[in-house]
Amino acid sequence: MFRRTSVVHLVDELGRAQRRERAREDVQLLLVGVAWALWGVRVELVLVVALAAMQRWVSGMLGDVVGGVAVAVIIAAAMLVRPVRCALLGLLRAMRLRRAWARATIDSGVASGPFRAPGVWSVTRVPAGELLDVHVRRGQSVAELDNRSEHVAACLRAREVRVLRDRRDAARASVLVVRRDPFEGADPIAWPMGEASAVSLWEPIPVGVDEQGEGVVLELVERNILLGGEPGAGKSAALSVLLAAGALDPNARLWLLDGKLVELAAWAPVAQRVAGPNGDQAVELLREVRGVMEERYRELLARGLRKIRREDGLPLHLVVCDELAFYLTLPDKSQRQEFAELLRDLVARGRAAGVIVCAATQKPGTDVVPSALRDLFGFRLAMRCTTPQASDTILGQGWASNGADASEIPGAQRGVGYLLAEGERPIRMRGYYLADDDVAAIADRAASQRTDAWLAERAEA
Ligand SMILES: Nc1ncnc2c1ncn2[C@@H]1O[C@H](COP(=O)(O)OP(=O)(O)OP(=O)(O)O)[C@@H](O)[C@H]1O
Ligand SMILES: [Mg+2]
Repeated sequence: MFRRTSVVHLVDELGRAQRRERAREDVQLLLVGVAWALWGVRVELVLVVALAAMQRWVSGMLGDVVGGVAVAVIIAAAMLVRPVRCALLGLLRAMRLRRAWARATIDSGVASGPFRAPGVWSVTRVPAGELLDVHVRRGQSVAELDNRSEHVAACLRAREVRVLRDRRDAARASVLVVRRDPFEGADPIAWPMGEASAVSLWEPIPVGVDEQGEGVVLELVERNILLGGEPGAGKSAALSVLLAAGALDPNARLWLLDGKLVELAAWAPVAQRVAGPNGDQAVELLREVRGVMEERYRELLARGLRKIRREDGLPLHLVVCDELAFYLTLPDKSQRQEFAELLRDLVARGRAAGVIVCAATQKPGTDVVPSALRDLFGFRLAMRCTTPQASDTILGQGWASNGADASEIPGAQRGVGYLLAEGERPIRMRGYYLADDDVAAIADRAASQRTDAWLAERAEA
């Protein structure tokens, strides 16, 4: 009898202990939840508390009515003064996004619960949406966040979420919450150096803007660039910007290969040599450039240098080839092979000698641009392509399935492409545009500058 009573008592005691433990856990969860909710609205709370304190302080001195009026005046003044209004609304918007981000990372499984969401250190509004500076918590990784980016985007009701890990800090990432396509229906953007009297190819050349509205520049020295895209994607327009920079550099020499004859025609007066849609001319031109390159290497050897330097004043050579596919598919096999071999040689060996090759092709298939040749180009720009495979032919294997697929660029977006710069993640950008009149004006200016320089040199000699 005694034994039975003590067992029942023990079971009751155990049940009560379990219930107490569960209740304690529930209270703990509730407290964490409340603290988390309050933390999410900390800025709003501080503002409300500050206003309430102000109202009480003024009311204490001058009465309730004046206190109320004072608060109303402060709110009205903040709304009427534009910089204050913008700062305040920006802050409130950023806080709303932080709350949505925290919920999204919990719901998508990146964070295990409240106070475990990757921290948002700053929020910047950019043309494509919002750019967040994110720090992951201990035990999390940027790769995990990247893997769940589709889930996070769905929770945020955004078009896309792009995660870019900081190279120097594994815990830090730039996260672009894409809300809109900044290139949709946008007007062409003029090249900012169109009015410059001189440009140096040794300096970074502005070529376009990215989705965050930042200027994109290319440092061309010791680099080569390959552009690919379907007809009308904007390849020749992009080449024109590079040519304009080359033409305005009085110390640069331009070599043009124009498979269509008319695309680069405006730059002919400033070029060393031009080859049209003619295999012999193209091969001759490349042979000459190779001669220049070999001469340059002899010169460098004589000077005890391994590569060209800006202070030596040696001219850079810009070799621009539009319609590369035309030359790489010439009907004469030996001519075609010689062209491909000369071009490969220039791309492979020309960098240290100051030879920069810029080539554009309409057909970026591997049968036209072998990957051995493509891989030698440090910069690659994939403009709108017909298939993801064509996009990958330019950018390199795998990028299309990794978020950089040029076949997804809408047909109406001319001049938009993915730029891959030396192994970094491709960025989506829109190239600056030079209308025919601008091209003609720049080419004219560059030609007369070059003539003046030549005459001055003659006069000195
Ligand atoms: N960056 C740009 N901004 C705005 N419009 C552009 C841009 N680039 C190109 N375009 C528009 O697209 C048209 C076609 O461009 P472009 O001739 O450069 O294409 P392409 O790729 O060279 O075509 P194709 O392969 O047929 O030679 C231009 O006439 C211009 O109207
Ligand atoms: Mg073209």
